[in-house]
Amino acid sequence: MEDKELKSYRDAGKIAARVREWGKSLIRENAKILEIAGKIEGKILESGGEIAFPVNICINDITAHYTPKYNDPTILTGRDVISVDIGVHMDGFIADTAYTVDLSGNYGKMLDANEIALETAISMIKPEISVAEIGRTVQRIIRDAGFKPIENLTGHEVRQYDLHAGISIPSVEVPYNWKMQEGMVLAIEPFATNGYGRVIESKQAEIFGLEKIKPTRMQEARLILGEIEKRKKLPFAERWFSNKINPLKLDLVFRELVSNKILKAYPVLHEKEKGVVSQFEHTVIVTKEGCEIITK
Ligand code: CO
Repeated sequence: MEDKELKSYRDAGKIAARVREWGKSLIRENAKILEIAGKIEGKILESGGEIAFPVNICINDITAHYTPKYNDPTILTGRDVISVDIGVHMDGFIADTAYTVDLSGNYGKMLDANEIALETAISMIKPEISVAEIGRTVQRIIRDAGFKPIENLTGHEVRQYDLHAGISIPSVEVPYNWKMQEGMVLAIEPFATNGYGRVIESKQAEIFGLEKIKPTRMQEARLILGEIEKRKKLPFAERWFSNKINPLKLDLVFRELVSNKILKAYPVLHEKEKGVVSQFEHTVIVTKEGCEIITK
């Protein structure tokens, strides 16, 4: 890896880690998730980073791809388990990190197992190790604690401006045998649940990505495309446009852009049996003998 690239990853990782720790105090009873999202994303920019994807704030059985809607009324309660997933990039080089806060006090065992699974997976990383071996270990740790890993969500390789590139890192035993290689940048993110262990798509989407730029006559659509083009294919939130486009038209414009295959929607994912879900994540660079955690 070139020095400049390595520095960008490390800088992105440092900012992501700092914002993650700073944001933990925001996750408390009676807090409004729309405000939390704005503060976390603001902190990334203030710290000199760019937002790699809208901050995900997933509550209870909501597992991934949820970011608050522009008028989201959701307020955290003392019964909630909340996962926060943060992405920072520098010049397109991405650091991705997540954690879960249990306001209910009922899921300590699950969160502990999830965190140990992440730490153990990271401790195994080195060139030539198979992702199947990592998946098997994560599955065993979470199962032994009495919970289930989410089998259809995986960690992923990242590359410049590409959040899901190359290999996947499963949280269960898999029949494929991809090997890690020196220089790969990997987001490792096991999820644990007391539910079934699978996610399904809902109808709602708040996160989008550019599919293909095409001419459009809608003025609002041109405004959106003009702003997101520089993000390449990095995801963005509908709410980012709520002060530029009449909120009454916002859903319509996004629906239109998705149906014209200009944008791709990332539907909210929730646990199949409405189990409560946790998530812990770090981004690492595979080195000659192990790995460097850039989001520590
Ligand atoms: Co993440």
